[in-house]
Amino acid sequence: MLIRRIRCLKYLGTRYNSSHYVTTPIFYVNAAPHIGHLYSAVIADAHCRYQRLRYPELDVRLCTGTDEHGTKIQQAASLHGVPVAKYCDDISQRYREVFRSASIQQDDFIRTTEDRHKRAVANFWRTLYTRGHIYSAAYSGWYCVSDETFLTDSQLRLDEATGTRYSLESGHPVEWTEETNYMFRLSQFQDDVRHWVKTEARIRPAKFEKILLDTLSEPLPDVSVSRPSNRVHWAIPVPDDDSQTVYVWLDALVNYLSSVGYPDEKFSAHWPPAQQVIGKDILKFHGIYWPAFLLAAGLEPPGQLYVHSHWTVDGQKMSKSKHNVVDPLQAAQQYTMEGLRYFLLREGVAHSDGNYSHVKAQRILNSELADTLGNLLSRASAKSLNPGQIYPSTSAEHLADLLRSLDAAKRLQDSLLHLSERCASHYECNHFHLVADTTMAALHAANNFFESSKPWTLKAGAPDGKQARLETIIAMTMDALRLSGIVLQPIIPQLANRLLDKLSVPTAQRGWNYLAESFATSPNSSNSHPGLGESRQLDGQTSALLFQRILEETAAKEVKQQQPQPAKRSKSKKKERRETMS
Ligand code: MSP
Repeated sequence: MLIRRIRCLKYLGTRYNSSHYVTTPIFYVNAAPHIGHLYSAVIADAHCRYQRLRYPELDVRLCTGTDEHGTKIQQAASLHGVPVAKYCDDISQRYREVFRSASIQQDDFIRTTEDRHKRAVANFWRTLYTRGHIYSAAYSGWYCVSDETFLTDSQLRLDEATGTRYSLESGHPVEWTEETNYMFRLSQFQDDVRHWVKTEARIRPAKFEKILLDTLSEPLPDVSVSRPSNRVHWAIPVPDDDSQTVYVWLDALVNYLSSVGYPDEKFSAHWPPAQQVIGKDILKFHGIYWPAFLLAAGLEPPGQLYVHSHWTVDGQKMSKSKHNVVDPLQAAQQYTMEGLRYFLLREGVAHSDGNYSHVKAQRILNSELADTLGNLLSRASAKSLNPGQIYPSTSAEHLADLLRSLDAAKRLQDSLLHLSERCASHYECNHFHLVADTTMAALHAANNFFESSKPWTLKAGAPDGKQARLETIIAMTMDALRLSGIVLQPIIPQLANRLLDKLSVPTAQRGWNYLAESFATSPNSSNSHPGLGESRQLDGQTSALLFQRILEETAAKEVKQQQPQPAKRSKSKKKERRETMS
């Protein structure tokens, strides 16, 4: 654990300029977005939001987009009977909508069909060619259209019964292909790529570094980087040779350069990317081809590849044929988009596949967002207890007494004291699940403190009524809510904002450094609030109901609606059937 942390922090230490360029993979437009795609984007977004929060001086830039060339896309468009360009426009737009609704804060959304990208690809190709890394050759091999790649024998499975070969990794069929291609001298970059993979905690989590090193322990064959135009015409033409088009993976990878303005010099202000988020299925392309292409072009490869595993649904791989593909917009109707973001980041861990299940989502969201977080805000701001609707200041005398006499108060203080340091170290490693864990532990401590201090016995009119003590309890609870809100901003930005709005925390006081301002750090301060100054009015415009519980019936009904139903016979069909029978 410690070693892992040190490695993450070491990576941080390697940052040498103020740019922090982060990318998601660009998404194929052959099908609509699902939660797996959203997961790549949400990881990158939460990472960037944390970087902005923690290092306001950094120039953080997030790029995402769509990958629109190749046979797969051609085929999908013709299957839908739509011109391919229009098909790309439509699906690309759906990605934009999903990302907007999920609060993905991208600085650029790039499409590989844009001119700026085509220019970058042509330039990149010419650079490789001029430097002697591309040559023309007759090529034959097993080609997988769906994976858009040639595969070696060891990457294939032969179905003895039919004689068909399939890609071991994706399960898609391959076809024998003989053609003249341009080849890239990948074999010459084996040592450089291995060196790059092994240094500076480059590939995270570490298990993916091992997978790459295993692949790199065998000699790398050169790789085909073009296809005949008559086979793949929906692609970028090879410069100075219209009979060939650029291999879709070379085309796609260059998007990371096009987005920052390559080949114009301005691109170097952002180059290389600090972190590239990818799914495990595209590790080879990003961990071997990509650094080799960049080194061959005389450019620096990325600082880090952050690789995540996949989501299954109720234990099964998501696929159209199984009717279990989860549409993020539909899921958001059940859980809200903030709820979905929270679930993906809370439940997903990068090193192993996560299982998306409704029961689990409902349980986590109800218990953590509705109860532990939401309910505490409702209780602390309830009119019965807090008729003035304020975020009060603490009284030094009562604060000291509570911390002395109540274990629960001391435990809350302890967890708030460590919140910033613990969560920062989890965020540095993209361990969002641990950030959520740590924050929920602090909120549990706050709930526990609230319960143990029995504020309802102190309110005006109660026998023990002590206004200053009551206000101190509410202030301590609101401090816990405020700090949690600050910490959770990268994970649930909208919900955290609403919480901080309700507590009237000025925008300028939502930065990471404000985690150091609370009763926990200044238990002896006099009658003013250490973080916010004097007591302040809660925001009456913002509801104290942060997250609505997901009700069993609604949820069950909606899940049922999403599942494929046996085709219902229409009345007329039934009638028709009766008539034929009689
Ligand atoms: N277009 C290529 C990437 C080119 S990047 C230069 C591609 N596109 S994709 O649409 O198929 O996948 C995009 C991302 O979604 C990948 O990171 C992939 O791992 C991720 N996911 C696709 N299915 C997934 C799950 N079931 N679960 C989690 N992520 C998944 O590959």
